[in-house]
Amino acid sequence: MKKVLITHASQIVTPIGRSGRGGKGMNDLTVIEDGCILIQDGKIIKVCKSGEMDENLARDAEVIDAKGKIVLPGLIDAHTHLVFAGTREDEFSMRMANESYISIMEKGGGIQRSIDATRLASEKELYSLAKQRLYKMAKMGVTTVEAKSGYGGTLEDEIKQCRVAKKLNESGPLSVVSTLMAAHTIVREYKNEPEKYVKLIIEEIIPRIAKEKLAEFCDVFLEKSAFNYSQAERILTAAKASGFELKIHADEITNGKGAHLAAKLNAISAEHLLFSDTEGLEEMRKHHVTAVLLPLTAFSLREPYAKAREMIDKGLVVALATDFNPGSCYSYSMPLLMAIACLSMKMSIEEVITALTLNAAAAINRAHKIGSIEAGKDADIAIFDCPNYAHLVYHMGINQVHTVLKKGEVIVRNGENV
Ligand code: NIG
Ligand code: FE
Repeated sequence: MKKVLITHASQIVTPIGRSGRGGKGMNDLTVIEDGCILIQDGKIIKVCKSGEMDENLARDAEVIDAKGKIVLPGLIDAHTHLVFAGTREDEFSMRMANESYISIMEKGGGIQRSIDATRLASEKELYSLAKQRLYKMAKMGVTTVEAKSGYGGTLEDEIKQCRVAKKLNESGPLSVVSTLMAAHTIVREYKNEPEKYVKLIIEEIIPRIAKEKLAEFCDVFLEKSAFNYSQAERILTAAKASGFELKIHADEITNGKGAHLAAKLNAISAEHLLFSDTEGLEEMRKHHVTAVLLPLTAFSLREPYAKAREMIDKGLVVALATDFNPGSCYSYSMPLLMAIACLSMKMSIEEVITALTLNAAAAINRAHKIGSIEAGKDADIAIFDCPNYAHLVYHMGINQVHTVLKKGEVIVRNGENV
């Protein structure tokens, strides 16, 4: 029986709940000054003021002194395209020279280039590339990462990517949640007969990934020059019938009515939502679809940010994630994400914390297990070297993570991977 006691935290800062919090509830954080947390066998068993901890209960615990530091739930990056090979910095430069993401894609660049590089890479190479990224994410306080496939585009290559995600999850240090996103782009082989690719996804890729239990979620890029509304609906309906929970890259570059479709299909989340209409957002609220906003992508594409204020004021459950990928957003920086969300999307720091913890957990169907510091949840915890949580944004873009625990095990100490 292994015990860990985190004591004398200047603040323990956490949302409370076992499901996502919408609207005003996103501002409700519990803050315990001079707080302490007792962990046993990877689970949180008690959270209280340091002076109130039962000494018997905490006997023989390894002690982590958090004096002068704040303690948050481990951050959750609920939307990434973690597993890929190759980079596309030349496209970034083209965009800086005002060429658009879609026009680069239509000329054969974009996602297809990362598909080409990823197909050439072995499973071992992909694993090693992704693993290095996970270690860096951990140093920014992240304890769980969602990872989408979609740089395969054939049955074998999609299986390869999903297998890598599964192995990464098994080997640690972070939890990796696998999403099938074969419907990322119409791959080159099917450019002139997209329906054949849709058929391949529905009839072969979805059933096989389901059978081998290689992914929990299925996502589709519903967008001009990618998958249209009808194709997205058919793919997601088939995925649902095979047992997947649904996600949609919705209204990222144009309004493709993705928010409406997410609500119609009772998706667990809809992502991006830069160009969604008010009615679509309202439908999402009614159907409890979590809005996963990805401001680093908007920043990188120089697009307007999603209307976080309107969504929260409407009562939606809003999560934030990085969308780390080699094209539209080559960043998994949590400090930068927090700063943009507060300063440019007008979210409060409390809302940002809820969006990166409990609501991010809701977006990956894990709010009952992770995303808050409460008895019974996994001891996924991030300790920041600052006296109060305002510093998370005040100290803009600076990583202040000191210690990270994953299921009660220290995986980052003094800012370094253990
Ligand atoms: O979320 N939009 C589709 N997928 C990614 C971009 C992937 C890429 O460009 O490689 C996104 O922005
Ligand atoms: Fe994405």
